[in-house]
Amino acid sequence: MTESLFGQVEAFAGDPILSLNDSFKADPRTEKVNLSIGVYTDENGRIPVLGAVKAAYERTGFAERPYLPMEGHALYREGVQKLVFGDRHPARTEKRIATIQTLGGTGAVGIAADFLAKHCPGRTVLVSDPTWENHHGLFQRAGFKTATYPYWDRVNRSVDFDGMVKALEAAENGSIVVLQPVCHNPTGVDLDERQQAAITDVLVAKGHIVVFDMAYQGFGTDLDADAAFVRRYAERASCVVANSFSKNFSLYGERCGGLSIVCRNADEAERVLGQLKLAVRRSYSSPPMTGGLLVATVLGDDSLRAEWAREVGIMRDRMDAMRKRLADAIRALSNEIDVDFLTTQRGMFSYTGLSAEQVDAMRERDGVYLVGSGRMCVAGLNEANVPKVAKSFVEAIQAQK
Ligand code: LMR
Repeated sequence: MTESLFGQVEAFAGDPILSLNDSFKADPRTEKVNLSIGVYTDENGRIPVLGAVKAAYERTGFAERPYLPMEGHALYREGVQKLVFGDRHPARTEKRIATIQTLGGTGAVGIAADFLAKHCPGRTVLVSDPTWENHHGLFQRAGFKTATYPYWDRVNRSVDFDGMVKALEAAENGSIVVLQPVCHNPTGVDLDERQQAAITDVLVAKGHIVVFDMAYQGFGTDLDADAAFVRRYAERASCVVANSFSKNFSLYGERCGGLSIVCRNADEAERVLGQLKLAVRRSYSSPPMTGGLLVATVLGDDSLRAEWAREVGIMRDRMDAMRKRLADAIRALSNEIDVDFLTTQRGMFSYTGLSAEQVDAMRERDGVYLVGSGRMCVAGLNEANVPKVAKSFVEAIQAQK
């Protein structure tokens, strides 16, 4: 061999969420419980294959696989727009939205970051404190500096709304602000309608560029209600919207998502779409087809779409029921622990307030896996594992006292 070319390459420290998922898989204990990665499993601990998706699969079969266009499948893109904005949103009827099919929600945020780096360079990107870890990385990779705005009020286990408003008001005009409109990851706490309206006023007045990251549409209240913040915002101002089908279609490995940029007029949207196509071409040329066809088929067919919406409701209701089951099981073991937060937070995640040491103890002693920040994925709970999780949780808190 010649001299080493890559001897200086640093070891990858691992991703805080994905590495934990690997450790879980490697854990030989049979009674282990995975409440780390944001993946919905059913009552039997399986990732469900949704009936609507299965029907779409049977309908589409496996035929020829030409390249999709850079922007993705036309029906898929239409489906994204209708789902995210609603059929009759003025931005849609006026053809002011540039939408592309993306590689999951991560791919959508990544292409958004590339697009913004080229067309709005040098701005600061503000993300919530805390946020999904990858937000920092995706924008930094594109060349931005990231900073945070306050979001989590540790004491009241709610949104630090005043802190958030102050930070967004103090930020330089035209900053890029990443917002999660529903089922905030990792905290599970969202802005209420009044707060959404107030923050919209601030964002519009400051000329900030909002990037909505909507990865859990349908897991909060329902598909339409969960998109209400985005829809109202898009009536007031241009914005960027990333959405994911990983969770609500249970299609994690297919990498299906969408990126929509709401523009001032149809001509601008056409040019923005062109630049998004270019960003895709330079990155991976065009999106893959199989998952995209499934999503397009479901969203484009009234009866499959209705069936899918019903199945999203089943997942949502089961997560809500498990939140309540866990809260009750913890209360039955100790009346000293306040677990009201479990049922007021929503979506896949709960911020438990557990410390990294407590999370380590639960994993090492009981094989119960949470993310080090104390984030619990409630979508991994089921009737069988709730008693074990409740006991582990109570012991972790009592050991700290
Ligand atoms: C999560 O936050 O656990 C999920 O969104 C999965 C991921 O890609 O990190």
